[in-house]
Amino acid sequence: MKIATFILLVCLINSSYGIYTFSFNITIPPLSSWIPSLSSIPYLNSISSISGSSDSSAPAEPSERSESAIPPLSFVISNPDLTSVTIDLRSIQMRAEAFYKKISQTILEDATLSVPELVAKHGYPCETHTVVTPDGYILTMHRIPRGKTSHFKKRPVVFLQHGVLASSADWLISEPEKALGYILADAGYDVWLANNKYSKNHTSLSPDDGKFWNFSWHDIALYDTTTMIDYALSYARQEKLFYIGHSQGTTVSYVMCSEIPEYNRKIKAMFSLAPVAYMTDINSPILQFIARGQGQLGSVLKAIGAHEFLPHNRVLGIVGNVLCRDESITQILCTNSLFAVAGYSDKQMNTTLLPIIMRHTPAGSATKQFLHYAQGINSGEFRKWDYGSSGNVEHYGNDTPPKYQLEKVTTPVYLFYSKSDWLSGEKDVARLYMELKNVKGAFLIADDTFNHLDYLFGIQAPELVY
Ligand SMILES: *[C@@H]1O[C@H](CO)[C@@H](O)[C@H](O)[C@H]1NC(C)=O
Ligand SMILES: *[C@@H]1O[C@H](CO)[C@@H](O)[C@H](O)[C@H]1NC(C)=O
Ligand SMILES: *[C@@H]1O[C@H](CO)[C@@H](O)[C@H](O)[C@H]1NC(C)=O
Ligand SMILES: *[C@@H]1O[C@H](CO)[C@@H](O)[C@H](O)[C@H]1NC(C)=O
Repeated sequence: MKIATFILLVCLINSSYGIYTFSFNITIPPLSSWIPSLSSIPYLNSISSISGSSDSSAPAEPSERSESAIPPLSFVISNPDLTSVTIDLRSIQMRAEAFYKKISQTILEDATLSVPELVAKHGYPCETHTVVTPDGYILTMHRIPRGKTSHFKKRPVVFLQHGVLASSADWLISEPEKALGYILADAGYDVWLANNKYSKNHTSLSPDDGKFWNFSWHDIALYDTTTMIDYALSYARQEKLFYIGHSQGTTVSYVMCSEIPEYNRKIKAMFSLAPVAYMTDINSPILQFIARGQGQLGSVLKAIGAHEFLPHNRVLGIVGNVLCRDESITQILCTNSLFAVAGYSDKQMNTTLLPIIMRHTPAGSATKQFLHYAQGINSGEFRKWDYGSSGNVEHYGNDTPPKYQLEKVTTPVYLFYSKSDWLSGEKDVARLYMELKNVKGAFLIADDTFNHLDYLFGIQAPELVY
């Protein structure tokens, strides 16, 4: 009972509604005015603006999370054809409850475990290592030094770097036969799982401090990833490792190898799952939304106390709910920012795993990471943080930010992409393919419905990808 309640709370508090029933008016302009490729997604008569106000006249139960503590949300870009949608969070909550009642006890138990506990439960060894980055963040890495069954003497290091809103847990959520972390351990690798700044620890800053969240994936590449790679190599006494990145984990690999080319020598081969560098072919409504309202959203997020992306951000929860208003399960999914940003595929989604996924996501990310991607959507380029003209002159000596020099990525790269990935579009992957210097293979996943997160939890990920 306690567990179910906990998960439900995570699920709801994720979108920080408290337990009130709110109704929001959401204005929906014609799709075509927004982005043509979106019309290919059914039921997505999507959103370019939210004008929200909470209907606080109907508090369902007393709660510590008083509505007045949340600053009013006022965020309107444009209001053409007004269509009003009311979301009844009470009914979502009831459907969520019904859903969790059907989930087995084992899964609910797994959903309470930390990464080392989860790994140990499956019978694998798990170590926790701490590193400190040059910019002062204290990061926790997880290591599965060997598999359950393997007796390999020489175990090559493989380094797994996760995406935004994600963490080391993502490689370990399915059962051992299906989750990449375990599969690699059993195949004889020394598996190191990265965690970025989301470890939420710093030598001098507190996560409550806005400055803590002043980083983008550029910083994750230059500081976090380099530090973790060096640590893993030195600990395992090896010269080189295999790098597997998912989503933002691929972005940081390109930034790192182009900005600090000596890392090319430390990487034997790089496997990019759902590569993200250019962002012109993006179907994620929320990223589009952020890109369109970049300045405004930045200030809204700041106003509601967020340099960290989401923990108290109603915007995405609401957007997600509208996107997914047909099925109960999809509604639950879409209250989670990870799914709201990345989408999911019905065919590949194992809903049984939801409680475990919800336990570990969203892992903290900085608003700046999303805004940096949004800049890429708007500029069509893969380049450094845009400070605005005068800021750019000050930082870079030029009024536009410099592009990342992909031709400096000389380590062998393997790209894995799919047709219906919301965040890693075919066109963008093709451009990346052309610009990287040493692509050894580009693999289109043989399932047209395969989406961004299926690389991690997809029912057929082992057959189709690994
Ligand atoms: C939603 O829109 C309707 C019609 O425009 C209006 O009567 C109602 O007060 C609005 N509700 C909220 C919560 O803004
Ligand atoms: C879904 O996940 C559960 C728990 O790991 C597993 O037992 C089940 O076989 C999975 N279902 C499919 C279709 O892969
Ligand atoms: C932060 O890291 C320090 C040093 O490793 C550790 O002593 C402390 O417990 C950590 N704090 C949290 C909140 O994890
Ligand atoms: C964030 O960091 C950048 C340098 O990366 C600096 O120019 C900027 O002033 C910082 N902003 C805040 C709010 O600390």
